[in-house]
Amino acid sequence: MGLNKMKQKKITIKDVAQLSGVSITTVSNILNQNTDRFTEATIQKVLAARDQLSYEPDYLAQRMVMKKSQTIGVLVPDVNNPFFSQLIKGIETILYEHQFVTLLCNADQDEAKETQYLKELERRGVDGYIIASSMVTNTAIDEIIRRKNHPYIVIDQKQADAYSDAVLIDDWAGGQLAAQHLKDCGHERIAMIFPAHPTKNVNRRIEGFQSVYDTSQLIFIHADLSKQSGRFAAQQLIQTDATAVFAANDEIAFGLYLGLDELGKSVPKDYSIVGFDNIEMAEYVKPQLTTIAQPIFQLGQTTAQLLIERINQSDKERQTITLPVQLIERFSTAHLK
Ligand code: RIB
Repeated sequence: MGLNKMKQKKITIKDVAQLSGVSITTVSNILNQNTDRFTEATIQKVLAARDQLSYEPDYLAQRMVMKKSQTIGVLVPDVNNPFFSQLIKGIETILYEHQFVTLLCNADQDEAKETQYLKELERRGVDGYIIASSMVTNTAIDEIIRRKNHPYIVIDQKQADAYSDAVLIDDWAGGQLAAQHLKDCGHERIAMIFPAHPTKNVNRRIEGFQSVYDTSQLIFIHADLSKQSGRFAAQQLIQTDATAVFAANDEIAFGLYLGLDELGKSVPKDYSIVGFDNIEMAEYVKPQLTTIAQPIFQLGQTTAQLLIERINQSDKERQTITLPVQLIERFSTAHLK
């Protein structure tokens, strides 16, 4: 940076007031969109002075005056999983439209990290929170957010509570659809692959699945919601007499593809597989994955929209929106011969 530039005096609100011939309070009001009390001529004078001086309001000062940061904290368990990147994209699209900045925290499914992030977000004065992470305890939410009346919405892995708006996915129906599809294909022995300590949303998928099949027809294999875990689960799967699999998410299903291939098995000839999520990759693997589609992008959009409405009107009636799921039949499932 040149010496001249460094010496340049920082333009302040006082300079704008002087040039436009009005008070600092008037400039502050007009630049913060509180224009009701002023004539069009005064507003235009102030805006012209601001433009002429290239005045940029100081972010921290402005934040103190408006008591708003135009920032939303978003807490997810694993950005590595494309489900969450698509979810974030949906959230960010709406926040951007409304001039909010997304402050993203990847919690790595670590309770201490999640709580720490919540505290940090609060310290930074975010205007609201979207929490998709399951490990944050309700006590932490209570102490850090709710008691201070900060707007928040919990979604996906974190179960919605009675105090905030909610956007739900019909996970139960998803499990049922997956089971009915496998049943229609003639499968009688099914392996269900899901985490040893499933989150509430995954539990609802399991319950929906069990509404179609008798427990005696099911084999339970535990795996984290990851490709690596799915790959590993293939070893257990081939020890069973299952002919089909319901994987708790698409990532597990992709891992299974590889694991089964390494063990000389093929999909859907040896095992039919149904996933859950319908992340983009489901269409790009071979065979293309049959799965239960969650409206992931829409989940993000709807959540952000509800949160903004809550920020703008804190006393409005609490809303719960449930989004539907859909069976996407591709080529990883086949009729039992
Ligand atoms: O792939 C991530 C999974 O965890 C999804 O099914 C999502 O619903 C989350 O709970």
